[in-house]
Amino acid sequence: MEKKQQIVMSGIRPTGFLHLGNYFGALRNYVKMQEEYECYFMVADLHSLTTHPDTKELKQNVHRVLAENIASGIDPDKAALYCQSHVHETSELYLYLNMLAYKGELEKTTTFKDKVRQQPDNVNAGLLTYPVLQAADIILHRATFVPVGKDQEQHLEMARNFANRFNHRYGDVFPEPFAFNYGSELIKVPSLDGTGKMSKSENQNATLYLADEDEVIRKKVMKAKTDAGPTAPYSQKPDYIENLFLLMKLVSAADVIAKYENDYNTCVIRYGDMKKQLGEDMVKFISPIREKVNGILKDEKYLKEVMEKGAEKARKSAKATMELVRQAMGLKYL
Ligand code: TYM
Repeated sequence: MEKKQQIVMSGIRPTGFLHLGNYFGALRNYVKMQEEYECYFMVADLHSLTTHPDTKELKQNVHRVLAENIASGIDPDKAALYCQSHVHETSELYLYLNMLAYKGELEKTTTFKDKVRQQPDNVNAGLLTYPVLQAADIILHRATFVPVGKDQEQHLEMARNFANRFNHRYGDVFPEPFAFNYGSELIKVPSLDGTGKMSKSENQNATLYLADEDEVIRKKVMKAKTDAGPTAPYSQKPDYIENLFLLMKLVSAADVIAKYENDYNTCVIRYGDMKKQLGEDMVKFISPIREKVNGILKDEKYLKEVMEKGAEKARKSAKATMELVRQAMGLKYL
């Protein structure tokens, strides 16, 4: 199939096992988009240094994220699958964009404020300029579609601002990038305890990882918060029950979902049965991905080849953009 003109870019940090949020917020879209667009997907190892300065496990984590991308359906022949630090042009563009990013706006970023709370002893400059590096990743390929979950919306808005600022100051080089999801809204996959979202490093007992064993999946789902059930027909669902239905919509068949919706609305729902069903559907969904990941991880040679091929494609696109950038900025003296 002839691919469309728009360019797609996205990334995932190698800071832990990937989970259902990463899958449904990002990976599911990647897999569809690789058929239609020119795609660049990367492992954001440089970003991970802002919170994980110890690099002892980095190689292993990078390999895992690559394997999880591939097991979820990324075809390294269709999309460039690479590692952020292998494309040095990223760092150069990050430097230029840093001169166009203001301390005030960076300090106001939600993710920065969260990290300051989480790691008060390591409020490094990389953390502050995290959204600048992310903007560099994206506009380096002059991408316009960025498949991400809801939590990345603000970073995308900032990327648009930096791209526009560059264009106003130096001339039009970058198109505006937008957060993308098939379907209308960006997704937030909730945690099983109803208190937040699934996450690589927090709330691990309420997060379903692509690496979880079947029994672990079943146990986590059975522990999800429920109550005695509705007392009036067609009542509004409390958040934690709404979340359970939301998770069911991701993995269960339409008739199963319809049955439990109906049971809820007629006040005969048995949450124990619903969770058992959801647990089984989650196992059916996650276990083939987990097994594929384990197979891919054994083949280091293959992973190395994927990374090399991906980096080569990404560097080619990056090089072309950086020529335009240096030209526009007047950094050509010879
Ligand atoms: P990261 O590694 O935290 O997450 C990777 C992707 O998973 C999505 N995601 C979720 N979606 C729905 N529900 C959830 N509970 C959930 N948790 C995570 C994220 O939105 C993301 O799409 N800053 C980025 C990495 C990055 C990047 C980029 C992304 C670096 N450079 C360039 C896009 C373009 C991050 O930390 O994602």
